[in-house]
Amino acid sequence: MKILLDAEQIRTGVARLARQVAVDYAGRSPALIGVLTGSLVFLADLMRQIDLPLRIGLVQARSYRGAATRPGTLELHLDLLPEIAGQDVLLVDDIFDTGHTLDALVSQLRLQQPRSLRSAVLLRKQGRQAVKLEPDYVGFEVPDVFVVGYGLDYQDAYRHLPYVAQLDEAELRD
Ligand code: IMP
Ligand code: MG
Repeated sequence: MKILLDAEQIRTGVARLARQVAVDYAGRSPALIGVLTGSLVFLADLMRQIDLPLRIGLVQARSYRGAATRPGTLELHLDLLPEIAGQDVLLVDDIFDTGHTLDALVSQLRLQQPRSLRSAVLLRKQGRQAVKLEPDYVGFEVPDVFVVGYGLDYQDAYRHLPYVAQLDEAELRD
């Protein structure tokens, strides 16, 4: 596997995002809403570096089916979402690929009338965006390859790796 972002680079990028969030939300107490399962590692690191009183919640989105590395049907589960009406909400996800996941989540969460709603992603894949929505905070741009680690999986493997790596073609069975 080719390492695209090592642990030190990720640490630096997450710290930069955390400072930006802390400045933008100064005097407020935002709710960070992580998108399971890919955002877990990013969310855990990000929340501990934001110097603000925070609330944490989770939603689940699934778009990958079996061995496929391109999105299938999107399923959203909002049963773990706390009350967000009137709150400043920051959605946190691992990667913005086509953007369909974040776009659908933003539409769903808007229905609950948060005071504000923004999104933060660790990675954005270049040349893949298929929605109008732009993520408000982006850690790193990555090329259009399949990446794993730091929360990102291939068939639920590799999430625990402390770095982001490009999965070899030979490992991908579409
Ligand atoms: P989107 O809806 O196309 O933006 O896809 C977003 C979701 O697809 C992410 O939350 C990931 O779970 C998954 N995804 C997209 N690209 C990759 C990748 O390169 N590696 C692992 N998961 C990915
Ligand atoms: Mg995901």
